[in-house]
Parts: sequence; C-alpha cells; structure tokens
Amino acid sequence: MNKLSIQTTENPRPKPQPGAPLGFGTIFSDHMMIMEYDKGIGWHDARIVPFGNISMSPASTCLHYAQETFEGLKAYRAQDGRILLFRPEENFKRLNLSNERICIPTLDVDFCVESLMELVKLEKDWVPAEDGSSLYIRPFVIGNESRLGVKDADNYMYMVLLSPSGAYYPEGLKPVKIYVEEQFVRAVRGGVGFAKTGGNYACSMLAQHTAHEKGYSQVLWLDGVEKKYIGEVGAMNIFFVIDGEVLTPELDGSILAGITRKSIIELLRAKGYQVTERKISIQEVAAAADSGKLQEVFGSGTAAVISPVGELKWEDKVMVINNNEIGPVARYAYDTLTGIQWGRIPGPEGWVREVCRI
Ligand code: PLP
Ligand code: COI
Repeated sequence: MNKLSIQTTENPRPKPQPGAPLGFGTIFSDHMMIMEYDKGIGWHDARIVPFGNISMSPASTCLHYAQETFEGLKAYRAQDGRILLFRPEENFKRLNLSNERICIPTLDVDFCVESLMELVKLEKDWVPAEDGSSLYIRPFVIGNESRLGVKDADNYMYMVLLSPSGAYYPEGLKPVKIYVEEQFVRAVRGGVGFAKTGGNYACSMLAQHTAHEKGYSQVLWLDGVEKKYIGEVGAMNIFFVIDGEVLTPELDGSILAGITRKSIIELLRAKGYQVTERKISIQEVAAAADSGKLQEVFGSGTAAVISPVGELKWEDKVMVINNNEIGPVARYAYDTLTGIQWGRIPGPEGWVREVCRI
C-alpha cells in the first residue's frame, strides 16, 4: 500500500471572498496530489504538494496520443459544518474502467478515496459555503513517457486538483437550450464513448462551439451509426418524461455511465416513478412533443447537477418543453439529490462520506 506524504505551502493564497462569483473550474486551492507510476515498480511516491505547474517532456505520450483519463466529483459543505463527498468510490471505479480501455494501469480505489479525503481535509477552508457552490474535484491520469512511438506508456502521473466552483451553466436551474447534433458524432459502440478520456471532449468541441454560436448551451449527441438514437449531452446524461414514464438511454458502451444518472434512477424508482433504460430515437421524442406527451427533459451530471432542458432543436424542429420551466420530476430529482449531497436529508446507506467538520 502506498504511503502519502504531505508538504504544505508556505504561501497560502487568498480564498475567494464570500459571495464573489466563482465560475466553474478556474480557481484552484493551495494544494494538489501527485502520484507516479513506473513500469516494474507500480504506483509510488504519493504526495500532497503545493499547487503549481509541473514539468514534463514535450514528447510525453499524453501530449501526442491523448493517453489521459479523468474524473469529476465534488466536496460539499453542509450547514452544520460537515464536509461531505458523494459516492467517491464510484468515481475511482469508473476511472479504472476508463484506464483499462486506454491501457493505463489501474489504481487502488480505497487508496484514491483515502488520499482524497486527506487532501480535502487539508483544503477544507476552500470548500465554499454559498448555496449551490462546492469544491469541484478533478482526479486525472496522464501517460508521461518521453517517446513518440505509438504504444502505451511505461510512465504515468495521477493528480488531483481542487477548484471551488459555482454552477456549471450560467443558467443555474433555469432551463437550458440544447442543439441536437446532426452532422458530427461523438462515439460509436466499441469505441471509447463510455470512458472519461480527454479525446471524447476534444472531438465534441467543434459541434459545441457551433451550437454556442447559435445560442445553444450544449449539443445532444445521436448514435454514431444511424444518427437516430439519443446518446448523451456534452457534459451530462439525459432523461425524458414521456406520458408519465421516465426514460433514459441504455448504457450501450457509447455513453458515460453517469454516477448522477445511476443515483437519479434509484431515487426516482424509490419514489414510485417508472424509470426505463432503453434505446430512444429522436423521432420518438419529436412525435411525443407533437402529441403533447413530452412532459420534461433534463440532464444529470456532477458539474451540471440536474439541468432542465427548455428547448430542443432538431433539424428544422424546435421543441419547447414544459413552457420552458422546470417540471415536477426534475424538481424532485434536484431537491432530493442536492438535499443528500449537502447533508440536509439522509440518503441511501453509504452514499455520503464525511471528510471532517469545520
Ligand atoms: N456524460 C458526460 C459526457 C460527462 O462528461 C459527464 C460528467 O461527468 C456525465 C455524462 C455525467 O456523469 P456524472 O454524473 O458521473 O458526473
Ligand atoms: C463532471 O460533471 O464532472 C464533468 O466532468 C463534466 C465536465 C466538466 C467535463
């Protein structure tokens, strides 16, 4: 088992003023975690160090062939001063699935959770207290061998950054507008769509950029073969409420198995909603919109939380959903999920991990 050493900074930086806008992922805490891997040795030298630039070879594998995986989770400050993590082991299990897909050595899930708890404990004062804000946590792994041949690296770095953040979408809980992408595809079955790896996001940027220019927040991806079945949105999974039934695309290997998605399915089922995971075509959604049966659309994700969708644009068709207002299912999902995450209501056994108290 790895040991974790801690070197604290001599120059702590000022924390954001209470109430100052935090944005998403632009401010970083005083410390970060690093651990290295070398073939024949394994993971070693786990350490918490002051946040700062790293030095690497310009021939490093991740820079050329995108051998990189990442995760996203949050630490929440409860009103009673507890600092909480939400299902952190799920993120590290998923990191290992992503790693396996692109030949990165797996990590010890328990060690990742325990070392993260140490890092968050050290940085507890960076967990913002404002409503809806949290400390976004970004673990990631990069291939870091200095060699231009295309082959999985012999050396890797695992790092964790902490970023006090507000809402991912400036809209907050107001419904967002989503553009159904017709030209480009994000993933195909057998590819890397299920893995959280940088290349998936690089290939989504052109479509997202174009959608932004047209006034849309993100794109909704269709399957990579027929451009017919719904996949996911740029940074979240997607749910539809059609004629009283909650529908979400099945996990077919081309979309991310969201931890928020999985949690929402469980919470909605426990409340008595019928939730079905299956193939959903965009034609089915459009027909439901025409017949008045499309009641709600919302996205789910760590950064996005629950994000109601007020408008879907597909080809020449504009579907306005629930008069551009949040609907009851999304509202219930949001209140219950955030209630559990911020420690206001108890969640299912084991979902919330207390790091420390302030
Ligand atoms: N889909 C994509 C492409 C994402 O980037 C994310 C965010 O992590 C999600 C879905 C939602 O996953 P999770 O709920 O685990 O954050
Ligand atoms: C997350 O929700 O954690 C994400 O990773 C989404 C995005 C910022 C890439």
